[in-house]
Amino acid sequence: MKEVKNITVLGAGAMGAQIAAFAAEAGYKVVVRDIENKYLDRGRQLIIEAWEKRVKRGELTAEKKDEFAGHLSFIVDVKEAVKNADLVIEAVPEIMDLKKKVVKEVSEVASDEMVFATNTSSLSIAEIAKSAKHPERVVGTHYFNPLNRMALLEIVHGELTSDEAIKVSESVAKAMKRVVIHVKDVPGFVANRIFCVMSNESDWAVAQNEAKSTLAVDSALKFKLGLPMGLLEIMDTLGGGTIDVEYHVMEYFAETLGKSYHSAPILEKLFKTGNYGKKTGKGYYDWTNGQTNEIPMGAGADFEPIRVLAPGVNEAAKLIEQGATTREEIDIAVLLGLGFPRGILRMADSEGIDNIVNELNRLHTTYKEERYKPSSVLTTMVMQGKLGRKTGEGFYSYGFGQYEFVKLNINKVTKVARLILNRPQRANALNLDFLAEINQALNEMENDSNVRCVVISGAGPNFCGGADVSAFASGKMDSVLRFSDSGQTLFTRMEIFPKPIVAAINGAAMGGGLEMALACDLRIMNNKTQLRFPELTLGLMPGWGGTQRVIRLIGGTRAKEMVLLADPVMADNALEWGLVNYAIEPGKFEAFVDELALKLANGAPLAQKLTKAMFYYGAQADQRTGAFIESEASASICFTKDIEEGITSMFSRRLPKFKGQ
Ligand SMILES: NC(=O)c1ccc[n+]([C@@H]2O[C@H](COP(=O)([O-])OP(=O)(O)OC[C@H]3O[C@@H](n4cnc5c(N)ncnc54)[C@H](O)[C@@H]3O)[C@@H](O)[C@H]2O)c1
Repeated sequence: MKEVKNITVLGAGAMGAQIAAFAAEAGYKVVVRDIENKYLDRGRQLIIEAWEKRVKRGELTAEKKDEFAGHLSFIVDVKEAVKNADLVIEAVPEIMDLKKKVVKEVSEVASDEMVFATNTSSLSIAEIAKSAKHPERVVGTHYFNPLNRMALLEIVHGELTSDEAIKVSESVAKAMKRVVIHVKDVPGFVANRIFCVMSNESDWAVAQNEAKSTLAVDSALKFKLGLPMGLLEIMDTLGGGTIDVEYHVMEYFAETLGKSYHSAPILEKLFKTGNYGKKTGKGYYDWTNGQTNEIPMGAGADFEPIRVLAPGVNEAAKLIEQGATTREEIDIAVLLGLGFPRGILRMADSEGIDNIVNELNRLHTTYKEERYKPSSVLTTMVMQGKLGRKTGEGFYSYGFGQYEFVKLNINKVTKVARLILNRPQRANALNLDFLAEINQALNEMENDSNVRCVVISGAGPNFCGGADVSAFASGKMDSVLRFSDSGQTLFTRMEIFPKPIVAAINGAAMGGGLEMALACDLRIMNNKTQLRFPELTLGLMPGWGGTQRVIRLIGGTRAKEMVLLADPVMADNALEWGLVNYAIEPGKFEAFVDELALKLANGAPLAQKLTKAMFYYGAQADQRTGAFIESEASASICFTKDIEEGITSMFSRRLPKFKGQ
């Protein structure tokens, strides 16, 4: 593969400017080309302003900013701009004829080795490539806006795209810190295919009177399904309003995927009356008073998100059926390109594949629309009994060692298990499936002789942000109670778990996350982070031990202060009040955790197990009863090999080697 040193970005607009900036940061020499100097000046300004903001926030030094800027040049003349380019990234407006004109023009003057990557968000790569001198060197690289928050890059393989062109795009993507997925040249690729179909279905749900209003759909998607915003709200606000773009995309889908995909009625009407969203004052909502839209949680009480989710899952399944991409790549696309709280196929597994298929069949029977017909991928799964989490097998497998939310690393040498709460895109917020997976991981560790100590920490900047609030949007008392009970049962199990558990509070521990940490045996806190019970500020109250475990740990005075005021507790107070055992500066945190965990892993397992049980059960009894159970318990392990080893090693002045026998 040819090494890329020089990149030319065509178009200094919203996307071109960001792509150029990221390429410059990755160390490439970048030429930005636009049709007039005024556009180049605007692009340069966008780039410099973004870097200056980061300098102000202390994320970038002024020297680095100058170094990055030194990698950039701005040229109008196309021949001059592309003559040294190893890779050209095209970000000109989304017009097929223009893209074809640009690829032709560039092919004529650039080196034959040049790879041409188009940032089209919907057009066919094969069609664009037809105008290139070397169609095999044309590839799709679909970046997401804004690049600093959306790490996804879809690499789109045109019919003739060569491995070389794909490898070149991949290496540059890696240097630009993108998370890559691969997809064939299908309409909408992955993320936009799912996003546009689900948005259109949100509209259809209202038009078909299945939802009372746009607000009802948006509320259910936002609070029950946990999407960052309602999809119709996004239609109105993304880039100032994207109803015109959505309309064109749906028309394109209708042309390429079948006429059943045509624009939903409200969308069509909005488009035809020039109401494109916020930028025109009106869209699905009225923005004329300049207000920010507020979606009330209760508005979606009567609408079940499966109505919109099922067609989204169906599109994903159709992509798999066609061999366009894989299940993992689909889930990465919705997580990192659309900000979904979970992979859409993971959601399907939790919902039940049978329920998804039933919903699609209901829609198909009622509305006779081809697009609702379930993909054979889904119907086959139902036939094979692969119904999702409830059967242990769906799009993914579930059970021992198979986790969505948990990462479990067992070190057989140190005998320390690291359980990582792994949902960083949602501050490791706990939902029902997450709690079940932690429980499953405890099952795995309880029976594993290679585990003598468990350390829990969080992936990303947080330890755990608490309970996933979507649980409270369900409006169903039985599911809220089940959620509440699952947390209580799990945290109690942690308290009496036969092996020591350490909470390595690497980042913020809030609400349910803090309640989990308090159920651990020892707590080590990064001294730059905070602990907090925010529940009362939300009208909630702690429900996983935040009133009971806390008051027993630190007493009523401080417990009430923490919970009623809901203020963050910083490391010095946390240490003084006895909320944590240690507060360690970030640079030394991991080493300290490792050392402490190793010490516990070398402890006497039988004695640890009984001691933990005594702490728990003894605390439920009066002191005399507790003392009695304690003496019985201590006598019960009196003749173990561990005790023999402990006492022998003390007299031999060496460290004991306990085996738990
Ligand atoms: N904006 C987004 O959110 C987004 C996200 C992903 C992909 N995309 C895709 O990226 C591409 C660019 O979108 P954008 O939002 O940056 O558009 P934009 O309108 O902000 O910028 C396009 C730029 O291209 C310039 N241009 C026009 N003809 C040119 C030519 N022949 N050579 C060089 N420059 C030329 C224009 O002057 C303009 O500065 C489109 O294909 C779009 O679908 C956009």
